[in-house]
Amino acid sequence: MMPVTSCHGLEITTIEGLGNRKKGYHPLQKTLAEDHGSQCGYCSPGLVMSMFSLVKTNPNITMLEIEKSLGSNVCRCTGFRPILEAFRKFAKDAPKQITLPDIEDLHICKKTGKECDKSNCEESEWCFVDKEECDKSNCEESEWCFVDKEDIIEIKLKDGRLWGRVQEVRDIFKILDREGDSSYMLIHGNTGKG
Ligand code: FES
Repeated sequence: MMPVTSCHGLEITTIEGLGNRKKGYHPLQKTLAEDHGSQCGYCSPGLVMSMFSLVKTNPNITMLEIEKSLGSNVCRCTGFRPILEAFRKFAKDAPKQITLPDIEDLHICKKTGKECDKSNCEESEWCFVDKEECDKSNCEESEWCFVDKEDIIEIKLKDGRLWGRVQEVRDIFKILDREGDSSYMLIHGNTGKG
């Protein structure tokens, strides 16, 4: 779910557009269901669409890339083992039969992309965030990634409110300086409103 104003400039495929009961399900949908990666189903559309987007932009995706990329999708029922087991079947380096350890036991370092053995790293005790910023060099995604490509986008809504999409925190202050800050809402995705 996301506000419609957030969709400016996006190409959208819905979960129903990918596959449905009438026209048949997509292999990603089928595999997730057959491998018991869906329980209440609340997270399943998001996981399938994230995975679809990954495979579409990188058909030669690896198991590690899949695991790293799905970190922002949260499942509160099934646990991540069956979900990863299902989706890793679409990786180019997937073995025929895979049994995974729990995701919590993998200790994949976001800095190196390798398993962390807690040695030779000053941050190993606490760091699990990739702090490296993208400088648009050495990046295969620079063609489609819109970071830095657009400045503030502003849309005047029918009820008089102003929607602004920013790329950087300082752009928020540019708008507040101009508009005043008596009443505003910060929206990140659609789950954090304040
Ligand atoms: Fe229920 Fe993932 S299956 S939240």
